[in-house]
Amino acid sequence: MSRSKDTTQVFGRTDKLEQKKIPMIEVTNLYKNFGKNDVLCGMSFKIFKGETACVIGGSGGGKSTLLKCIIGALKPSKGKIYIAGNEITRIKESNLNQVRKRFGVLFQSAALFNSMTVRDNIALPIRHHTDLPENTIEILVKSKLELVELKNIEEMYPAQLSGGMKKRVGLARAIALDPEIIFFDEPNAGLDPIVATTVDNLIIDLTKKLKITSLIVTHDMHSAFRISDKIIMLHQGKIAKVGTPDEFKKSNDPIVLQFISGGNKNEAGYRFNPT
Ligand SMILES: Nc1ncnc2c1ncn2[C@@H]1O[C@H](COP(=O)(O)OP(=O)(O)OP(=O)(O)O)[C@@H](O)[C@H]1O
Ligand SMILES: [Mg+2]
Repeated sequence: MSRSKDTTQVFGRTDKLEQKKIPMIEVTNLYKNFGKNDVLCGMSFKIFKGETACVIGGSGGGKSTLLKCIIGALKPSKGKIYIAGNEITRIKESNLNQVRKRFGVLFQSAALFNSMTVRDNIALPIRHHTDLPENTIEILVKSKLELVELKNIEEMYPAQLSGGMKKRVGLARAIALDPEIIFFDEPNAGLDPIVATTVDNLIIDLTKKLKITSLIVTHDMHSAFRISDKIIMLHQGKIAKVGTPDEFKKSNDPIVLQFISGGNKNEAGYRFNPT
């Protein structure tokens, strides 16, 4: 099968609409292996300015690996990745730092530094990338905390926060530098369904309010259906389907159906309610 035919089949109707938009993240023919383990086996997709895209797929299927390649934390074996027009797989470390300023990251575990206060955790990227004075940083930290609906917790340490609060602080840190793009890895993992929905709502509010492009890796189909403009489904190292939540709900593709219905009972962390 030729690549162009393959792409048309995978991208479906959305492809024509997307031609007019500005690509913020562009992945072209991406491969990544760890020794004999071929994790990403040739995938291409685009995420456009202002879009919220979710990457879904089975556990161990390469979602986090894909995200790490995109943010420059892992080097792909083959292929190209552009972020806001910058080809980050070939970029020098100093230039990568400039591109990194334009995006925020919220990792799977929120990855807060336990030995630092909430203030210092949120201020970390600001101090790293700018020379702003401490009183300005203080104001920025407060305003980012307000955006995630938290206040007066600057002096607290991560161990003193609930799981949902940690995620919010992680989110505040991810938006500390007013990024154009945010990457999330499993923002809902480990949260009860009510808190998970609150975090989803925050992501929807923030990304729409601040017009941020976002790429979210998730196990959670319910969440993917709620927050995505576009869903990218990985299967066996390739893209099984890209489409809107509606296109996924209506899909008769056996791989999609199996993933959606299996999600209720199989792997820990899945939460799917088709209603
Ligand atoms: N640094 C690494 N070194 C070697 N193998 C790795 C490394 N990172 C990931 N892998 C392997 O790559 C595969 C994909 O892992 P990855 O973490 O990307 O999956 P995932 O889809 O994010 O899974 P989950 O949903 O459980 O988070 C796994 O087989 C894993 O063992
Ligand atoms: Mg993962």
